[in-house]
Amino acid sequence: GPCVKAHLKTIPPLCVHYVTFCLIQVKRFLEPFRLSQKTLQDISSRLTQDMIKGLGRHSHHKAPVKMLPTFVRATPDGTEKGDFLALDLGGTNFRVLHVRVNEDEKSVLKMDSEICAIPQEIMTGTGEQLFDHIAACLGTFLEKQGLKEQVLPLGFTFSFPCEQKEIDKSILIRWTKGFNCSGVEGRDVVQLLKEAVRRQGDYEIGTVAMVNDTVGTMMSCGYRDQSCEIGMIIGTGTNACYMEEMCNVKRVEGEGGRMCINTEWGGFGDDGSLRDIQTQFDLEVDRSSINPGVHIFEKMISGMYLGEIVRLLLVKMTEDKILFSGKVSEKLRTSGAFLTKFISEIEHGSFQRILSDLGLQWSTADLRAVHLICDTVSSRSAQLCAAALAAVANRIRTNRGLDHLDTTVGVDGTVFKKHPTFSAELRSMVHKLAPKCTLKFIVSEDGSGKGAAMVTAVAQRIAAQSHLIDDSDEDELEEN
Ligand code: BGC
Repeated sequence: GPCVKAHLKTIPPLCVHYVTFCLIQVKRFLEPFRLSQKTLQDISSRLTQDMIKGLGRHSHHKAPVKMLPTFVRATPDGTEKGDFLALDLGGTNFRVLHVRVNEDEKSVLKMDSEICAIPQEIMTGTGEQLFDHIAACLGTFLEKQGLKEQVLPLGFTFSFPCEQKEIDKSILIRWTKGFNCSGVEGRDVVQLLKEAVRRQGDYEIGTVAMVNDTVGTMMSCGYRDQSCEIGMIIGTGTNACYMEEMCNVKRVEGEGGRMCINTEWGGFGDDGSLRDIQTQFDLEVDRSSINPGVHIFEKMISGMYLGEIVRLLLVKMTEDKILFSGKVSEKLRTSGAFLTKFISEIEHGSFQRILSDLGLQWSTADLRAVHLICDTVSSRSAQLCAAALAAVANRIRTNRGLDHLDTTVGVDGTVFKKHPTFSAELRSMVHKLAPKCTLKFIVSEDGSGKGAAMVTAVAQRIAAQSHLIDDSDEDELEEN
């Protein structure tokens, strides 16, 4: 078209009409991605209902939002201390850390850490291979640090949905985020780790505390700000945890105090409850994922999937001749070719290289359109997170019978941290959806590493742990 070589700032008058015309078509296409405040409010209420279902002793089994007890009953009180190891599996990388908690300075120091890549074939290989790889990385790290003779307590940040029986017994419910190792679902991850360490044979580990990354994030912020009662991750995956009243945690013995609940809100919609807002592109992302039908909410929000949603939009609009003169490049057709980080880069204003690397030729109208597509997909993600966070904050507020709640959210994750407008958009929408809650956001500094050490430290401080009530008999009755 006439606009092919035009630059954004010097569009000839004739082209203005053309650009506007294209944008109207693009906007029409993006309509299903725009959610009204009323819809978001409604989604927030649906999540509230699902949270109640997940907490119930009998409704829990069929609940899409699992509301898992974490056996973390207290946030740090500042008296924790000691040296710890931390493992962090489930985000962008696998890491091993040596962490020191200093009581006097109320600080958590990362003494050393190392990143070990997890090759693709291990991510989808056998569980034994995965845990051998982890134990080997840990062994190498201890060797290098001269720690091999010590037996240190270990915090294991394992960022997948686990049914925790105790702080050191944690059954994997299912893999998410591209992991799919055989023979691990339904097994105790602590035991698998310990067996792998035994197979290494040349070092030992002390007590193990299992930690979801959301919990680590809450706890690491909690050391600095004792009103931190929510942990949230918007990275490769998405999830949140918060402090719930024990009397509402029907699946765990005891009525007093509070316990941190790992909501696993990524599973919201797994029973079809979000069908009305899923677009054809969301359905396609789900269908072509390695775990179709599960973690529906996560697939509309997190870094593992956002780029793919944008890619599918670009392909479809190009096929419909709305973009790139109708020419879809080979590269653009390749699944996973449009990385989520491109969305941030494009919204920051850098396009040319990304599009040319994708083998595309663009006009000014295309540039505007691509920007709008990225903006729409990331905004929807921020708004959906806001709806979910509003549900959690309101729950804490009503639990405590408060007219107004002031609390702090510890946050981590690449989408939240790297995207230029994500956090601002999230905050402003939470404010609208939960006007009776004032939330302060703290970006966690390495919650998965330091937070895991913190959980281990707090767990050691609070020796008495309660146990999960075994409700299997009653369930059989219920089902008959
Ligand atoms: C997992 C959660 C985790 C979240 C963020 C999800 O896929 O199910 O356990 O907290 O990702 O890493």
